[in-house]
Parts: sequence; structure tokens; C-alpha cells
Amino acid sequence: MSGLRRTVFRPLDPDFVEDPYPTYDRLRREHPIGWATTPAQGYAGFWFVSRYADVNAGLKDDRFGREVAKVLPPEAFVPILEAHRPLYAMIAQWMLFKDPPDHARLRRIAAPVFALRQVNAMRPRIEALIEAAFAQVPEYGPFDIISDFSSPLSIDIVSDLMGVPEEDHPLVRGWVREITLSLDLVRTPERIAAGSRRAAELVAYFGALVCARRAKPKDDFLGLLIAAHDAGSFLTEEELLASCVLFLFAGHEASSLLIGNGLHALAQNPAEYARLRAGETQGRLVVSELLRYDSPQQIAFRHALEDVDFLGVSIRRGQTVGFGLGSANRDPDIFADPDRLDLSRQETRHLAFGAGIHTCAGSSLANIEAEMVFAVIARRFPRIEIIAAQRQESILVRGLTRLVIDCG
Ligand code: HEM
Repeated sequence: MSGLRRTVFRPLDPDFVEDPYPTYDRLRREHPIGWATTPAQGYAGFWFVSRYADVNAGLKDDRFGREVAKVLPPEAFVPILEAHRPLYAMIAQWMLFKDPPDHARLRRIAAPVFALRQVNAMRPRIEALIEAAFAQVPEYGPFDIISDFSSPLSIDIVSDLMGVPEEDHPLVRGWVREITLSLDLVRTPERIAAGSRRAAELVAYFGALVCARRAKPKDDFLGLLIAAHDAGSFLTEEELLASCVLFLFAGHEASSLLIGNGLHALAQNPAEYARLRAGETQGRLVVSELLRYDSPQQIAFRHALEDVDFLGVSIRRGQTVGFGLGSANRDPDIFADPDRLDLSRQETRHLAFGAGIHTCAGSSLANIEAEMVFAVIARRFPRIEIIAAQRQESILVRGLTRLVIDCG
């Protein structure tokens, strides 16, 4: 076994941020596991796993988990400033950052609310929100699909789902944006403090909403969450409120990035877009392929909860491992001709929603939402021309902060 850490790639290199796929290809062939170095705070470096079979297996291996604080002494961590505590306290309660048994306890509340039947019942409401968002888009001339459409729409859909009244949607959008900035890679202590204040406000907002809903019960998403909480004492009130915020966050960013990445891919593959417009494709397969081709979440991070020998490497307890979802989704061992966008691809075993116990809880909602959005796009936009695009600088996600298109 070798614990030798030789850097095999740098995830913040501009060339990699622009197009990571040639690097993934090299890594899958030459370094199925290798050390990634980054100057970003909190990501000193990590082991990166690039092949589909290993990513899938690693995410199901309980020697890798999320609660690194359980296995490292307190002095291994940068102390948290007082002004930043509300943000970190909230995030620490998210199921996303929990291992068993707490993870299973928290995840249980998500089961009834994300059941396919429940999500299907939301279709008319999602359709109305999509129509309202399209009404804001200029009929002629270029516009930024991210700021003018996909970002507000994605926040509004999850806000609506969480029982946030329509008149409060702009308020929630503002909070979400500020908290997102505070969680960003490039962030200042001031930004984290501002995000922390907003996190406290958002939790208080959901507290009031839950109170109001208890007084006037309704059989919607928030009602189901409250019922799941009140039916047993397996969830604290703080955990219930933190879960509301998690759904808001987990639900909006990836959905918005998928719209941007999908449009970008379709603009570069006009023959495939023509097939989509001609109705020669199936919505379910289209979304699966767009998720595979340019996955919104590129890496699922875990920590070694013990010393682990993995793929010939000795991973020390507490070290970070990045499982490459985006790389796995281009693995030729699973996907024939993986760099080709094929909207009729029958192989749908992509890992864009992750794998193992943390597999995306909202995947059925995400799929339905994206199917409906791309159906409307195909109906409305005779063509897609990219005027300008700007990539998000991130290790975790891949997407665009700006995508100006002309579709007339
Ligand atoms: C295109 C859209 C989406 C993508 C690509 C996506 C992707 C993912 C991925 C990769 C994970 C696993 C992260 C990890 O293992 O580290 C995850 C977890 C999660 N997602 Fe999504 N997601 C999407 C939409 C949504 C939506 C709409 C919701 C809910 C409203 C949602 C709720 C969650 C939750 C609650 C988790 C945590 C699950 C757990 O820890 O057990 N996601 N998502």
C-alpha cells in the first residue's frame, strides 16, 4: 500500500474549471485514485476517485462518512468565530452532513414528502411557476437565462413546496442568495457573518411558518414534514427547521445549474436540439442524459472514518476523499461514446444524484421539474445561440453564473 501523495490534478486551474473532461479521462486511465491540491480554505487537498465502479463502491462504503469531528481531535479544526456560529450550527444539523444513525433518523422525514405520488401532485403548481418565470423573459433579444429565469424559478419552486407564500418569494430569494455567497469558495469573514445573520433569520422565518401551519393544518409538503415530526419524537424542532432550510438549498442550486448546463450543451449540439424540438426524444431520457453529460454536482466529499486501504492507497483517518460523480458519468466502461450528447441514450445509471445513503432525496422532484422546463424550452425556443457565458469557480459544483442566450 502506498500513502504517497503526488498531486495529479488541481481542481481550481482555469483550464480545468472550463473543461474538466479531458483531465477526468486521463485520471480514469492513469490514476484511478490520486491527490488533488487546492489553495481554497477548508480544502487543503483530497484524494480524488475517478472511475464509475470505484465512485459507486466508495459512496456505499461505511468507512467513508461525513462526521469528521467524531474522528479527529478539536485542535485539528480552525476555531469558528462567534459571529459565524448560527450558520455552522444550522448546517451541522443537515442530514447531508450526518452519518448513521442520525442520518437515517433525519432522512425518514423526507420519505413521505418526496414520494413520487406526492411529487406528481405538484405538477400543476410547478407548471404555473414555470409559465410565470417565462413571462418575465424578454420576447426578443438576448437575456441571461441564469439570473432572469433558472435561478429565481428554482428558488420559487422549492419555496412554494415549503409552503412559503408567493408574496414572500422575493424575500426568500434574497436570503438564499446571501447565504449561498457565504458558503462559496471565495468568501470573506464578513460574508460568512452576513450569511450567518441571514441563516438565523431564515430559521426564524420557518419557525413562524411552522407555527402558523400547525394552527391551520394543510396537506402539503410543509404539512407532511410537520406531521412526520409531530407523529414521533425522533426529530427536534431545530432539526425540523434546519431540514426546511436544507430542502431550500439542496433543491434550488443544482436544479438551476442543470438548466444552464443543459442549455449550454443543447446549444453546442444543434442536431440533438432539433430532435428534441421535433418530439423524437423522451423527456425522462433527455433529463437523464443532460444530468450525465454535464453534472451539476461534480464531486461527493467524504472523510475516512478510519485508516482505509482503497485502490492501493493508504487513506489516513480524517483525510478527505472526493468521489468524482462528473468523471464517473463519462466512464466509457459504463457509457458508450461518453463524450457524445445522445438524448436517446438508454443507459441511465448516471451518478449525478450520488449513490449510497446520501443519494439525492429530491431526485424525483428534480427530474419532473427538469422534464417540464426542457419541454417548454423546446416549444418556445426555435434555436439557442450563446452570446456570453461565465463559469462558476467551484470545486463541488459545475455550472454557469451567467449564460446570455438569444433564442429568437
Ligand atoms: C438537478 C437537481 C439535483 C441534483 C443534480 C442533486 C444532486 C444531489 C447529490 C449529488 C446529492 C448527494 C450529495 C452527497 O452524497 O454528498 C444530493 C443530496 C440531496 N439532495 Fe439533491 N440534487 C438535485 C435536486 C434536489 C432537490 C430538488 C431537492 C429537494 C427539494 C434535493 C434534496 C436533496 C437532499 C435533502 C439531499 C441530502 C440527502 C442525504 O444526505 O441523505 N435535491 N443531491
